[in-house]
Amino acid sequence: MKSVDVLLGLQWGDEGKGKVVDVLTPRYDVVARFQGGPNAGHTLEFEGQKYVLRSIPSGIFQGDKINIIGNGVVLDPALFKQEAEQLAATGHDLTKRLYISKKAHLILPTHRVLDAAYEAAKGAAKVGTTGKGIGPTYTDKASRNGVRVGDIFGDFATIYAKAKARHEDILRSLGYSYDITEAEKEWMEGIDYLKRFTIVDGEFFVNHLLDEGKSVLCEGAQGTMLDVDFGSYPFVTSSNTISAGACTGLGVSPRRIGDVYGIFKAYCTRVGSGPFPTELDDEVGDKIRDKGHEYGAVTGRKRRCGWIDLVALKYAVMLNGVTKLIMMKSDILDDFATVKACVAYEVNGVETDQFPYDISTGIRPVYAELPGWQTDMTRMTSEDEFPEEFNAYISFIEDYLGVPVKIVSVGPDREQTIERYTEGE
Ligand code: GDP
Ligand code: IMO
Ligand code: MG
Repeated sequence: MKSVDVLLGLQWGDEGKGKVVDVLTPRYDVVARFQGGPNAGHTLEFEGQKYVLRSIPSGIFQGDKINIIGNGVVLDPALFKQEAEQLAATGHDLTKRLYISKKAHLILPTHRVLDAAYEAAKGAAKVGTTGKGIGPTYTDKASRNGVRVGDIFGDFATIYAKAKARHEDILRSLGYSYDITEAEKEWMEGIDYLKRFTIVDGEFFVNHLLDEGKSVLCEGAQGTMLDVDFGSYPFVTSSNTISAGACTGLGVSPRRIGDVYGIFKAYCTRVGSGPFPTELDDEVGDKIRDKGHEYGAVTGRKRRCGWIDLVALKYAVMLNGVTKLIMMKSDILDDFATVKACVAYEVNGVETDQFPYDISTGIRPVYAELPGWQTDMTRMTSEDEFPEEFNAYISFIEDYLGVPVKIVSVGPDREQTIERYTEGE
């Protein structure tokens, strides 16, 4: 048995990763974030409470598990402090259970300003980022100008001043005006707050745990279609969101990777700009948004909604090596007489099931139409209760993708999660 499993989004993010990581955590010793930062908003619900996590792994609510923020994550100390303090106020003290890699990069206040300035400069072509400074921080990492968590124990004042001065030069050249006085104060308080946590050589820490026989669940952020290499570039985030990112973002060898859980909604959403072939700009899209409460967990922005896109999902399954599928928000399609699934793209009159290089124009989705299940799914507790039409929808997806759907989610609560068993298991 391999001991590092990865759970990640197969669409454009917000698939429900936080909920399922929380559900699966009891089966693991360690939960680790490996990329992204506070652009993520992972929602968990249990015992009538709702929590939204941004940088902190979704394993923190299940007993005394070890939680790790890996080197591949970009961390904003001010937002981190806010998040951790909110959790502490609800009785979840993380200081003994959360470990942070020295090699994770810090989001500076000026990174956030740069994010806004670059978006403003793009005008109508803006990415629609979350405004959290993600792109500029990863840019500094790649251009070897970044500031890392480990730096807070060195001559931090000098390191910080140098990075800030570089950013100020860029912002001056862009003619962008800003005031970070308050943000900088909060940020410095965040830096002090970080010192309460155990800052580790993350790659050694996680490999020692593995050598001791511990099992790790890696929690992806964003989704495969937002991957910087394989997503709908340039309308993507700035990290590798695919399973390979778990290796570089934690320092674990690919040989340690076991199961890859690929999570998707029974339909599809996207927030921010960029192409979305199955988007429904009509009353069906509005109905999905209303019923599914499809508004950003972090920004509150309206999420764009559409039918499930099996062409994009097949691409995502290939890139990640998905071994188990997880279908979320099945309950949102409860009262549709029929549901549609995109099975091919027509590109300039030619049908293909291979995700094209450019999906920005000229794509016409080809749909299969299936009977809806028209049953309230939210109270179901076992797959034996699934209506025939719902099973047919799952089988259709499994046949197309060639991977079994092992978990079905029928509501936001931890309890509204149903495992599917294959004969012989
Ligand atoms: P993440 O970023 O992948 O963790 O997902 P988000 O938390 O951004 O968005 C998922 C939203 O759907 C959250 O509001 C969840 O509470 C909610 N949710 C998750 N699973 C289900 C489900 O099966 N049914 C319903 N109705 N809501 C769900
Ligand atoms: P979770 O982990 C959905 C989108 C933004 C924008 C693009 C780039 O909750 O699924 P960025 O701020 O990363 O530079 O923005 O990526 N985006 C997300 N969309 N869920 C997320 O995270 C996202 N994180 C970033 O809307 O289009
Ligand atoms: Mg989210």
